[in-house]
Amino acid sequence: MALSSLLPILFLACTSILVTFVVSDKPDPGKDQPHKGDSPPPPLIYSPPSPLQQGGKSSTRLLVHFYSTTCPNAEDLVMAEMKSIQAEDPTLMPALGCDASVLLVSKNGTAEKDATPNLSLRGFDAIERLKKILEKACPGIVSCADILAMAAREAVFLSNGSRYDIETGRRDGNISRASEAYTNLPPATGNITALIDLYAKKNLTIKDLVVLSGAHTFGVSHCSSFSNRLYNFSGSGTTDPTLNSTYAQKLKQQCVPNDTTTVTSMNPGNFLTFNLGYFQTVMNKQGLFSADEALLHNNITLAYVTAQANAASPAQFFKDFAQSMVNMGRVDVLTGTNGTIRAVCGAYVD
Ligand SMILES: *[C@@H]1O[C@H](CO)[C@@H](O)[C@H](O)[C@H]1NC(C)=O
Ligand SMILES: *[C@@H]1O[C@H](CO)[C@@H](O)[C@H](O)[C@H]1NC(C)=O
Ligand SMILES: *[C@@H]1O[C@H](CO)[C@@H](O)[C@H](O)[C@H]1NC(C)=O
Ligand SMILES: *[C@@H]1O[C@H](CO)[C@@H](O)[C@H](O)[C@H]1NC(C)=O
Ligand SMILES: *[C@@H]1O[C@H](CO)[C@@H](O)[C@H](O)[C@H]1NC(C)=O
Ligand SMILES: *[C@@H]1O[C@H](CO)[C@@H](O)[C@H](O)[C@H]1NC(C)=O
Ligand SMILES: *[C@@H]1O[C@H](CO)[C@@H](O)[C@H](O)[C@H]1NC(C)=O
Ligand SMILES: *[C@@H]1O[C@H](CO)[C@@H](O)[C@H](O)[C@H]1NC(C)=O
Ligand SMILES: *[C@@H]1O[C@H](CO)[C@@H](O)[C@H](O)[C@H]1NC(C)=O
Ligand SMILES: *[C@@H]1O[C@H](CO)[C@@H](O)[C@H](O)[C@H]1NC(C)=O
Ligand SMILES: *[C@@H]1O[C@H](CO)[C@@H](O)[C@H](O)[C@H]1NC(C)=O
Repeated sequence: MALSSLLPILFLACTSILVTFVVSDKPDPGKDQPHKGDSPPPPLIYSPPSPLQQGGKSSTRLLVHFYSTTCPNAEDLVMAEMKSIQAEDPTLMPALGCDASVLLVSKNGTAEKDATPNLSLRGFDAIERLKKILEKACPGIVSCADILAMAAREAVFLSNGSRYDIETGRRDGNISRASEAYTNLPPATGNITALIDLYAKKNLTIKDLVVLSGAHTFGVSHCSSFSNRLYNFSGSGTTDPTLNSTYAQKLKQQCVPNDTTTVTSMNPGNFLTFNLGYFQTVMNKQGLFSADEALLHNNITLAYVTAQANAASPAQFFKDFAQSMVNMGRVDVLTGTNGTIRAVCGAYVD
């Protein structure tokens, strides 16, 4: 599966972070790996089953502070390093907060990967950096899936969102490929019915859908993920009439037809801050994706978008976001003795 077909999934990126972080078993050492040639294919570390892994508590469930006995500093270490990463490169916060697609690195070096100015590699390096620190502190204990969850939490917090409790205790998959993991995810072109159905299949509610979509308050997207709305809506060769026409004109200046290289902000003017901007954007009919616009076509999602677009404070959204992130973080997880703890977090799309 080409990276191009993964990138449209930005709107579900938070889901991808927690749910579908996947790794290929056999990264091709000959190709342009992000490890700069200094490492052989990432070895897998198999933690022996440990009934005492959580201080005697069952280790087959996700728990808040799962690592409190096995790696007590894990969350603090991630926080400290995320602060350094932000200081060095603020644009990585949205990428790590809600865009796991940055972590899917193509071994072939596709045009799409190269198009996002090193975002894939930079995001990937940031996760490897966190992983190295945790491996040093607690070898073989903290999964890549949990590191991503922790990184996402801090990215939101460091972008002026709130800091929420997360559950940990996930283990890493070792056979999944990105192409398999992504087949369950709705496309950026999804209509409201399709979106609700796909969330329902993951035990996620309509409210989770609209709340998690709010994470599009920050981040960037490739033109190719929405250019059909500009130039060939429903194959008609016209512009999506539901897209704010002023905004459509502006987007056309940024994204020429068949543009596969340009990247544009998902929240004009303020893509580094986690706030209510997304809901205002959608209300103004400036949601980039059809899947954003779709939230105006169901009365539960519409009511939420309207309320948050007009809210005096983001407090309710932040509270809902924390809950929905927990809900999403429970989907399709490996726990207990299933899965592995990887030594290196390699993720490849092909
Ligand atoms: C990657 O390269 C291999 C051969 O080198 C090719 O078979 C495969 O289709 C390529 N994948 C993509 C996504 O271009
Ligand atoms: C980022 O991309 C540019 C242009 O493709 C390249 O010259 C540069 O080496 C890349 N930087 C990193 C850190 O990969
Ligand atoms: C993952 O690796 C473990 C350890 O080698 C193995 O027991 C397990 O079968 C693998 N999972 C799958 C689905 O292949
Ligand atoms: C929504 O999308 C699904 C899946 O693509 C499609 O089957 C359905 O007809 C669409 N519904 C509407 C109302 O367009
Ligand atoms: C959804 O929840 C039900 C009841 O709690 C459970 O049986 C089912 O396995 C869950 N499905 C998924 C996909 O998590
Ligand atoms: C517009 O979409 C239709 C249907 O998908 C396709 O046949 C046509 O080639 C597209 N036109 C352009 C200019 O891309
Ligand atoms: C864009 O691609 C479509 C389909 O490949 C083609 O028909 C059309 O001429 C292209 N448009 C431009 C401006 O290159
Ligand atoms: C967060 O808020 C502070 C204080 O208002 C502001 O200085 C800072 O620029 C904001 N950071 C982001 C990423 O929006
Ligand atoms: C379209 O966007 C403009 C500029 O942001 C805004 O003033 C206007 O209210 C929007 N129109 C609609 C219908 O939302
Ligand atoms: C929601 O929309 C349905 C039709 O799609 C309508 O029957 C229902 O009354 C609406 N509910 C509310 C609370 O507005
Ligand atoms: C491992 O996964 C299987 C299948 O999903 C499940 O039935 C089993 O309970 C899991 N075991 C543990 C220890 O989580």
